[in-house]
Amino acid sequence: MTTIVGLSGSLRRGSLNSSLLRAAVQAAPAGIEIDVATIKGIPLYDGDVEAEGIPHVVEKLKDRIAAADGLLLVTPEYNNSVPGVFKNAIDWLSRPDTDIPRVFGGRRVAVMGASPGRFGTLLSQTAWLPVLKTLGTQPWFGGRLQVSGALDVFDQGGNLVDARVRQQLAKFMAGFAAFCGK
Ligand code: FNR
Repeated sequence: MTTIVGLSGSLRRGSLNSSLLRAAVQAAPAGIEIDVATIKGIPLYDGDVEAEGIPHVVEKLKDRIAAADGLLLVTPEYNNSVPGVFKNAIDWLSRPDTDIPRVFGGRRVAVMGASPGRFGTLLSQTAWLPVLKTLGTQPWFGGRLQVSGALDVFDQGGNLVDARVRQQLAKFMAGFAAFCGK
């Protein structure tokens, strides 16, 4: 069984990106388990807190990622870059740096995202690349999914209602799953 940890970079209940992650779970091919995790509860990074010990919530998430074949980041875009809360979570997950090879080293990572605007998180997805490189991951470049106009792609209940995006998502998940299963 190939396992992929999925993380949405938004905390809000009605998040388009969390909706996209839920849709990705539905779209994933058979034989793939998507372990939907959350960044909720991860504190703001503070070196003084780290000196007292890595927070339990961070340790638990590190272990889930380390045990998985892949990591799927579903990212919003804030001010043409990555949201601070999401970057903060990844920063915590990279501590202590001696643990980076275990958690991120060679980890297969895909990035997708949704925004109400026209570019569908193009710039935030691009902004993740140097971070993924620094952490020694193996990003998947075999597909891309930038869900633009996302307020029309999901209904009020967060269900994916756009057939074209559903097709794109299925193709994306099949490609990334195959990459993770290698
Ligand atoms: C945004 N939003 C936004 N959208 C975009 O396409 N490009 C951008 O640069 C920004 N900038 C931005 C900054 C801040 C501080 C906020 C709060 C929002 C809009 C954003 O895409 C929208 O709020 C999404 O709905 C956020 O994702 P979730 O929470 O729905 O997953």
